[in-house]
Amino acid sequence: MTARKRQLALGVFLTRHGHHPGAWRQPGSAESGRPDFRYWAGLAKTAERGKFDTAFFADFVGIAGDSTKGIERRHAFLDFEPLTLTAALAAVTSRIGLVATVNTNFDHPYALARRFAAIDHISGGRVGWNIVSSLADGAAQSFGVEQPLSHAERYERASEFVDVARALWDSWEDDAFDHADRDSGLYLDPNDVHPVRHQGRYFQLSTVLDAARPIQGHPVFAQAGNSEVGREFAAKYAEMIYAAAQFIEEAQRFYADVKGRMARHGRDPDTLKVMPGLSFAIGSSRQEAQDKFAALEAAVDFSGELNLMGQDVSGYPLDGPLPDLPEPENGKGRWRQLTELARRENLTIRQLFLRFNAVRGHRVVIGTPADIADQIQDWFERGAADGFNLIPPLLPSSLDEFVDLVVPELQRRGLFRTEYEGTTLREHLNLPRPRIASAAPSEAPAPPALAAVS
Ligand SMILES: Cc1cc2nc3c(=O)[nH]c(=O)nc-3n(C[C@H](O)[C@H](O)[C@H](O)COP(=O)(O)O)c2cc1C
Repeated sequence: MTARKRQLALGVFLTRHGHHPGAWRQPGSAESGRPDFRYWAGLAKTAERGKFDTAFFADFVGIAGDSTKGIERRHAFLDFEPLTLTAALAAVTSRIGLVATVNTNFDHPYALARRFAAIDHISGGRVGWNIVSSLADGAAQSFGVEQPLSHAERYERASEFVDVARALWDSWEDDAFDHADRDSGLYLDPNDVHPVRHQGRYFQLSTVLDAARPIQGHPVFAQAGNSEVGREFAAKYAEMIYAAAQFIEEAQRFYADVKGRMARHGRDPDTLKVMPGLSFAIGSSRQEAQDKFAALEAAVDFSGELNLMGQDVSGYPLDGPLPDLPEPENGKGRWRQLTELARRENLTIRQLFLRFNAVRGHRVVIGTPADIADQIQDWFERGAADGFNLIPPLLPSSLDEFVDLVVPELQRRGLFRTEYEGTTLREHLNLPRPRIASAAPSEAPAPPALAAVS
C-alpha cells in the first residue's frame, strides 16, 4: 500500500440483461438469454475502457431449487458459473479486476484455494473473491443439505473457510519456484514450503496446496453481508464491501460502523473499501433521464409471482400495505431496510417493488452526467463511500453511457484515474499485499510424509 491521494473506486455488477426487472424488454439490453461469452467479454472490455477497478459477478447458486413458479417471466441473470467466466475474461482483458462470488457452504477450502490461485496467475493478479454464506432453501435442496446451518454457524464456517484458504495460499513462499538449479538438481528449497495442518469444527486437513502462491498473495476479499455478524465478518476479513443504501445518512452510519470495527481486528480502516451500489438513468436533460427510467418501470410485469427480497407476497393486494411478515433467515439486514422504507414512506407493495426490489435496495440517481457525478462526489467526500459498485439498469447500454458520459466528468473533477497505474487489483485499490503469516494454523500433529518437508 503506498501513500497517494484518496481515489474513488469504481466497479460494475454485471448481469445478462441489466439489473432492472423490466430490462430484458427494452431495446438497450441484450436480446437473448442464450449463453454468449462474446457478450460478457464486450461488457468487461467496456468497463476496462472506463478504467474501472472491478467487474463483479454474483452467484445465487441453486437458489430457486425445484420451484418453477413464475419462471416464464423472469429474465436470465448470469450465463456462466462466475469463476469459470472470470478465468475466460482474464484472457481477453489486461487490467480490470475480476471479482467472482463463491458460496462457502458448497465448497471446500482446498478445492477453492487452488482455483483462485490458478485464476490469479492466469489474470496477472486481478482476481477477487466475493465471500458469501447465504443458504436459501432452494440452494439447500439443490445440494441435498438436510440440516442447514443457522445464520451464525454459516458465518462461523465462512470464517474457518477463509482462515484455512489463507493458510493454503501461504503454502509456498512467493519465489519458491524461481530457483530451479539444473546443475545441482535442486528444484526448490524445502524451507520455502509451509504445510498446513488444521483440525477445526468444519474442516480438517493436513496438506500443501498444489498451486504457487497467488500473485496478489491472496485474492482481494469482498463481502456483502449487512447483519451484525455479517458486519463483524467484513471488519475482520473484507477488503471491499458491496453495500446497499438508499440515503446518505444510512450509508454514513454503515461506513462508520464497519470501519469502526476494524481496529479490534488489528486492521487499518483504509484497507477496506466500502462500495455502495448505485443504479442510475442518464439523460442529456433530467426529463430525458426520468423518461428513460419510467419506460423501464412500465415494462415491469406484476402478473406473475411477486417476490420481495426473497419473500413471496403474491397473495397480498398489490396496492395495499406490506403485511407483517417474519424476518427471513437470509438477508436479514436488507429485509430490515425494506420494511423500514415501507413504514417510513407508507409504501404499497407495488411502490415498494419499484422503489426497492427492482434495484434490490440500491440508490437510484436519475439525471444528467453532472447530476450523477455530483451524487458520487458527495457520498465519496462525506464519509459514505470509498467508491461505488454500479448497478446498471440495462446492459450493455447503461454501462456504455456511464463510461462515455460520467467517467470523463469524474476524471475532470480529479476524482477518478485517467489511466491504470498498477497491474493488479490490489494496486488499483491501493490495498496491501498480504505477507505470509509466520505460523500457519497447526493444531494436529504432522503426518510423517509432510513432516519430512517441513
Ligand atoms: C451488491 C450485493 C451483491 C450480492 N451478491 C450476492 C451473491 O452473489 N450471492 C449471494 O448468495 N448473496 C449475495 N449478496 C447477499 C449478501 O452476500 C448476503 O448474503 C446477504 O446480504 C445476507 O447477509 P446478512 O444476513 O449478513 O445481511 C449480495 C448483496 C449485495 C448487497
